[in-house]
Amino acid sequence: MSDGGTARASAFERGEARKAAEGLGHLSGFGNEHSSEAVPGALPEGRNSPQRAPLGLYAEQLSGTAFTEPRAHNRRSWLYRIRPSAAHPAFTRTGNGAIRSAPFNQTVPDPNRLRWSPLPAPAEGTDFLAGLWTLGGNGDVAQRAGMAVHLYHANASMDRVFSDADGELLIVPEEGGLVLRTEFGLLHVEPGHIALIPRGVRFRVELLDDVARGYVCENYGAAFRLPDLGPIGANGLANARDFRAPVAAYEDVEGPVEVVNKFCGNLWSAAYDHSPLDVVAWHGNHVPYAYDLRRFNVMGTISYDHPDPSVFTVLTAPSDTPGLAGVDFVVFAPRWLVGEDTFRPPYFHRNVMSEYMGLIEGAYDAKAEGFVPGGGSLHNMMSAHGPDRETFEKASAAELRPQKIDDGLAFMFETRWPVSLTPQAARAEHLQQRYDDVWQGLERHFRTM
Ligand SMILES: [Fe+2]
Repeated sequence: MSDGGTARASAFERGEARKAAEGLGHLSGFGNEHSSEAVPGALPEGRNSPQRAPLGLYAEQLSGTAFTEPRAHNRRSWLYRIRPSAAHPAFTRTGNGAIRSAPFNQTVPDPNRLRWSPLPAPAEGTDFLAGLWTLGGNGDVAQRAGMAVHLYHANASMDRVFSDADGELLIVPEEGGLVLRTEFGLLHVEPGHIALIPRGVRFRVELLDDVARGYVCENYGAAFRLPDLGPIGANGLANARDFRAPVAAYEDVEGPVEVVNKFCGNLWSAAYDHSPLDVVAWHGNHVPYAYDLRRFNVMGTISYDHPDPSVFTVLTAPSDTPGLAGVDFVVFAPRWLVGEDTFRPPYFHRNVMSEYMGLIEGAYDAKAEGFVPGGGSLHNMMSAHGPDRETFEKASAAELRPQKIDDGLAFMFETRWPVSLTPQAARAEHLQQRYDDVWQGLERHFRTM
């Protein structure tokens, strides 16, 4: 599928685009009330919906939560735009490409530990949307519960505009910088950063390099938020001020623009006669974000053992049971290991939660080989996993000096429900066939004396 692709930009154009992206201004903070105007005076003062909005703009509310949800969780924004979103023709079904949605009931749920190599290269002219490939997930889009794991591999910028009514998109670039041109303005992300596009927000993905590759968590449930910190205190983990929201920037474009909407699992397309990225000013807290994972303030032991990986939670999307996330986004960032008399790599375990792991760069400290950037592993509910044989032997014999883990950036989408695969993931050529072998040869050391 390459119907949405554009011609490749020249290296010069890409260089200029990157320079421009690096210079983008932003607003600081997560979950707070932001406001921004691209033209002075575009934002009304003192009310949301004046009889005549400034500069002849249309006022429009975008609700990310029900009107009546508790204030602490309520998300909405007011947009002041050249045309109201309602001004569009009918949507008609278009091809879903390799995008699939919950319920994922086309394969038998698999208790095996599974691992994939990176996605193969896409055909020329593949944009972000055409390059999205669904691995699996859980829940039901129509129930607004659960999540999907997607990967993307693209080599062209989008001409078209996309929005996802089914969920929020957490984009984790692994290769290639991106500019996300959203209704709220522009966000720049590079590998090692994440972007969060709220449900229903329209955006376009532009490439800053020849190829863009990475991961996407589509969260059908309640929006990602910062985790509570409990005894950690008022600071730490992902600090709210490090999240970047865009400043208002708009397109005043007349002429045909394809807008694709993902709704209840299918893609629908409409030919607008203008760009819907025409928001001149906005305020609110239902906004896109970018975040540099290297800013994560990593907590860990300074005595013995290491804490459960929940201490590496960047963002959590709660379910209706407190403490039981629909999905957590967890990062294994550079950190010091200093635990005394401690097996320092991640321990062997079986988890009621299901874990999809990916690697952004370098290596992961529980796996000597086979888990590579752009690839991923799935350890479903209660599947037994942990370090491979080589890692176990090395870590059991290692001299326990303070040690810096600084050559890798891995992450996890951890979800309360088992992850079922799409047929394309279950049958993929890049599904590794002998993953179980990494736990073969773990020797028997038991002795009674
Ligand atoms: Fe695990």
